[in-house]
Amino acid sequence: MSDIDGATLTGNTKIAGVMGWPVSHSLSPRLHGYWLQHYGIDGAYIPLSVRPENVEQAIRALPVLGFQGANVTVPLKEAAYNMVDRADPMAEKLKAVNTIVVGPDGSLEGRNNDGYGFLESLRAAHLGWRPGDGDAVVVGAGGAARSIVAALLDAGVPRVRLVNRTADRAERLASDLGAAGPGEIEILAWTDRDQCLADAGLLINATSLGMAGNPGLTLSLDLLPEAAAVVDIVYNPLETALLAAARARGNPV
Ligand code: ATR
Repeated sequence: MSDIDGATLTGNTKIAGVMGWPVSHSLSPRLHGYWLQHYGIDGAYIPLSVRPENVEQAIRALPVLGFQGANVTVPLKEAAYNMVDRADPMAEKLKAVNTIVVGPDGSLEGRNNDGYGFLESLRAAHLGWRPGDGDAVVVGAGGAARSIVAALLDAGVPRVRLVNRTADRAERLASDLGAAGPGEIEILAWTDRDQCLADAGLLINATSLGMAGNPGLTLSLDLLPEAAAVVDIVYNPLETALLAAARARGNPV
């Protein structure tokens, strides 16, 4: 599949892209390139390798260069939030932006749809999970966990049990989001992560554990109800050891 077919670009081509450092691992150019081609849109979506120290210049250049907008990935999402002219409620809550839309007047609108994307993919997977099914256990307290916890609380999950190796970071996440959402965040010790699966309706690995080249997530699923859905944000490999173990005992994954 070719992402950008040079022969089809015209002087009116609409340009967008993804900024990150590094950006070479991003699948966004292939994903968006596919849909541009599929719908015959005169557009191009390109990887933008932007060093953190250059993020301001790069974002300021978007309207100047005629970009329609850009996605922003790690580690630039917080810097992007600080630069936009206005932010949607989710970006405001997370103080992080994953999408910048350039307005007709050249102004920059920041959005964050990471959590929305996560929830939609969860719904599309038809795991039988509903937000009211009980507490959700989220392992991890990084940027990804932040978006996921906010989205779960927004969707009506009664309580998130948050467990992270570094307790400080979990506490920061909870204090940043706790007051903003209607649900509750309960912080559990890293050493209690096996026990905190009892009666849960959903388990999410939001750490990088299990990713190719990283150690796996050590977690005993014995107490997790069989009906609880299990989700891993790691997509390389697509089926992590966590998902394989959950699938083997009958959990929807
Ligand atoms: P992202 O933006 O993808 O969430 P991140 O902000 O670097 O990335 O967060 C990585 C998450 O994986 C964190 O929850 C991190 O735990 P700490 O806050 O304790 O660092 C977790 N993580 C990474 N390596 C880990 C390991 N070896 N053991 C336990 N947790 C780990």
